[in-house]
Amino acid sequence: KRVQVAIIGAGPSGLMLGHILHRAGIDTIILENRSRDYVLARVRAGLLEQGTVDLLRENGLAGRLDKEALIHHGMALAFDGERHRIDLSGLAGGKVVTIYGQTEVTKDLMDARDASGAAIVYEAQGVTLHDFDGTSPRVTYTKDGVTHEVACDIIAGCDGYHGVSRASVPKGAITTYERVYPFGWLGILAEVPPVDHELIYANSPRGFALCTMRSNTRSRYYVQCPLDDKVEAWSDDRFWDELRRRVDAPTAEAIVTGPSFEKSIAPLRSFVAEPLRFGRLFLVGDSAHIVPPTGAKGLNLAMSDVRYLSEALLAFFQDGSTASLDTYSARALARIWKAVRFSWSMTTMLHRFPEQTAFDQRMQEADLAYLVSSKAAMTSLAENYVGLPV
Ligand code: FAD
Ligand code: DHB
Repeated sequence: KRVQVAIIGAGPSGLMLGHILHRAGIDTIILENRSRDYVLARVRAGLLEQGTVDLLRENGLAGRLDKEALIHHGMALAFDGERHRIDLSGLAGGKVVTIYGQTEVTKDLMDARDASGAAIVYEAQGVTLHDFDGTSPRVTYTKDGVTHEVACDIIAGCDGYHGVSRASVPKGAITTYERVYPFGWLGILAEVPPVDHELIYANSPRGFALCTMRSNTRSRYYVQCPLDDKVEAWSDDRFWDELRRRVDAPTAEAIVTGPSFEKSIAPLRSFVAEPLRFGRLFLVGDSAHIVPPTGAKGLNLAMSDVRYLSEALLAFFQDGSTASLDTYSARALARIWKAVRFSWSMTTMLHRFPEQTAFDQRMQEADLAYLVSSKAAMTSLAENYVGLPV
């Protein structure tokens, strides 16, 4: 088989890139090592920047989103017994954020792929990248015991942090930057109305907590936990009690509890690999960078990478121009590093670190107090939170 672009991974970045390229008449195959059901069941991000929604809309993918998503004009920070609202849209020139789960984005993208008839292979085993240092790369994989080979012009590595694409690059050709945080997030989903119509990020002596949602009837809550905690040690009752102890009293009072139907622990990490291009291989999304979830930048960064790379690939296949492919890495990284900085600063401001000294603690308190008292500081937060320009 021969295609123009072989896409590794059917997460949001691989599916979105595949959709844009297919609409432009570019022939693609998507190779995913998990099953469709497994990919759809993975609960991850929930908050979309305007640029992400715009990309979905421009590509005819916002039909269900426009009916079901929630639009938020603000969010709140809770600390020291008080809740402070940040007027995001007022401070960020009218921009808003959208609540629409990654599972829903993924489902809409998979449905669009199916409707288009373009190739997608689930449970592709042993995906291997070949010859991307030349002009005729290939990808091989095994499906149901049969080995297949795909010849292509370009390989898009959209296969996440643990994928094969970044790992295929010679060690000497890639530089990585990393910070691992000494805690995780325990998250639950429950079929209960959210405590507030907007998100609440809480800093408390017992650690960070976040009140978010998937709809007006489905809540998502997170609490900071030690990295070695086991989900089994967290009954629903223990979770709700801990959450209430980390938010201000009126918020705690208003939380509606109920049985959880999803509960998982995610570690927090900042990671960037440079560059994003190795000959005919391009890294996109989590395969090249990870941010801690605080501030919800992961999925949104994956989508801005897709915008840059799809523009470059359209220019390449339609006019034979390589100029945009040559600048993809630098363009994408400029935006990535700013989101890495923002996610790191939100994480640092809102969590309790095991090694935190009394001085560090005072700095964190001053950071928060300054933020909610300064329009300049709140404007900076709002501008980053709603998403920097693409
Ligand atoms: P992925 O979604 O990771 O997709 C990569 C795909 O490639 C997967 O389907 C994978 O199965 C496939 N793959 C992997 N290896 C191979 C291989 N060898 N061959 C073929 N296919 C392969 N972001 C937020 O903004 N807010 C959040 O609350 C949030 N929570 C998160 C919680 C968790 C547990 C995780 C892991 C991430 C979270 N993120 C969050 C980040 C966000 O989900 C990611 O940034 C986003 O999924 C990136 O999309 P992607 O398509 O680049 O990568
Ligand atoms: C969600 C996750 C985040 O990390 C965040 O900052 C906002 C929302 C969420 O899962 O809804």
